[in-house]
Amino acid sequence: MTTFVLATANPHKADEMRAVLVGLDVQLIERPVDAPEVEETEDTLEGNALLKARALVEATGRPAIADDTGLFVEALDGRPGVFSARYAGENASYRDNVEKLLAELEGVDERRRRAQFRTVIAVAYPQRDPEIVVGTLDGSITTAPRGEGGFGYDPVFEPNGAGGRTLAQMLPDQKNAISHRGNALRALALVLAKQ
Ligand code: IMP
Repeated sequence: MTTFVLATANPHKADEMRAVLVGLDVQLIERPVDAPEVEETEDTLEGNALLKARALVEATGRPAIADDTGLFVEALDGRPGVFSARYAGENASYRDNVEKLLAELEGVDERRRRAQFRTVIAVAYPQRDPEIVVGTLDGSITTAPRGEGGFGYDPVFEPNGAGGRTLAQMLPDQKNAISHRGNALRALALVLAKQ
């Protein structure tokens, strides 16, 4: 059994991870409360995920798992990308970020509203090279929010092939089955199963 420390302090994400990794010989434990907060100073999701995972290895001496997610919008040259959480400013709410995104895309026609969610998960170890897995979800940005579920940019993200529903109009299980984070977690399960 290998024990991994999770960088996320979000219990919902930790549960999601446990659900996908069930059946594997791994144990996931929460980050110690005194582990130092890591500033996401890198300009890629990979860089930030690695930064967070390596900092936890340093703090705990155990293997660690960290993730980072961004929304990449084609007509905005990939923005908000790595800055998705703080697109409308340092303390921006989900709603502020969504409003800013819709404002930036004002007048952009449907074909140019293509976007991709990308999640990178990094696994760092005390004594060996890290592993990186990526999960993506392709879709487009709507012109107005729709749906009450999910979080973040879900009300304005319409996945390709989802019958015109936004992620916020799906049940959690439906979203997880196709989502960037779900896909990254399934890739992580494959990597950990081989160890
Ligand atoms: P994080 O790296 O998971 O914290 O994600 C960074 C930001 O991306 C979040 O603050 C959200 O705004 C956005 N985000 C991440 N995952 C999702 C998702 O599944 N749906 C909608 N927005 C998301």
